[in-house]
Amino acid sequence: MASSAAGCVVIVGSGVIGRSWAMLFASGGFQVKLYDIEQQQIRNALENIRKEMKLLEQAGSLKGSLSVEEQLSLISGCPNIQEAVEGAMHIQECVPEDLELKKKIFAQLDSIIDDRVILSSSTSCLMPSKLFAGLVHVKQCIVAHPVNPPYYIPLVELVPHPETAPTTVDRTHALMKKIGQCPMRVQKEVAGFVLNRLQYAIISEAWRLVERLRWTCWCNPFFLAAALG
Ligand code: NAI
Repeated sequence: MASSAAGCVVIVGSGVIGRSWAMLFASGGFQVKLYDIEQQQIRNALENIRKEMKLLEQAGSLKGSLSVEEQLSLISGCPNIQEAVEGAMHIQECVPEDLELKKKIFAQLDSIIDDRVILSSSTSCLMPSKLFAGLVHVKQCIVAHPVNPPYYIPLVELVPHPETAPTTVDRTHALMKKIGQCPMRVQKEVAGFVLNRLQYAIISEAWRLVERLRWTCWCNPFFLAAALG
């Protein structure tokens, strides 16, 4: 694995979102350590990232200025969470959407990190005030909610805990910009986050339109005649 001048980022959870974040951070020249509770998931993630990056290179869509091999050399798996976070500047949690599981992981990370690293969650809708409650390093905690797949959709919603330090938000914002994402600052947590609420409003409207068009078709005598033969 290559050492990186840009800094080291740890991904906790090597599933769909963790893999995509890993590719993005490597594209920005960051060293990436992938951690997962399942060793096989780390192996799968590394293999999957290699295949995907090669395809992106062939399609001319690989992000960043480094070659595919240079980017791949920045990503490695790490089966030990304590070793993984050593010297890291940013930890991006990507485990399943389960409040108790995430709280357990943040409590574990809280006990092993220093005062400089940022603890960031990819949660889709869990409130920062619940996720980071009682953590010693709460000032360093933030939600960086991506859109799936983050590699292709750059919008990231940054949601702070009420006690998150402004420097944590600024540093996360700068980091996201550095890897080519479009971070959006949310001043205060709101149930469902802004992105989901807007997304669901659009999806609901789309369903209403489909429903209305369906009825319009059935009420059209020409359509009815054709449908009934
Ligand atoms: P996933 O199920 O694909 O991956 C989760 C990974 O976490 C798995 O590899 C699993 O082995 C690992 N894991 C489970 N327990 C662990 C533990 N104790 N320690 C370390 N690793 C552990 O989940 P996905 O889709 O990647 O979602 C991750 C997070 O991203 C969730 O909070 C989700 O809400 C959020 N998110 C998901 C989006 C999506 O469309 N999939 C979009 C935006 C956010």
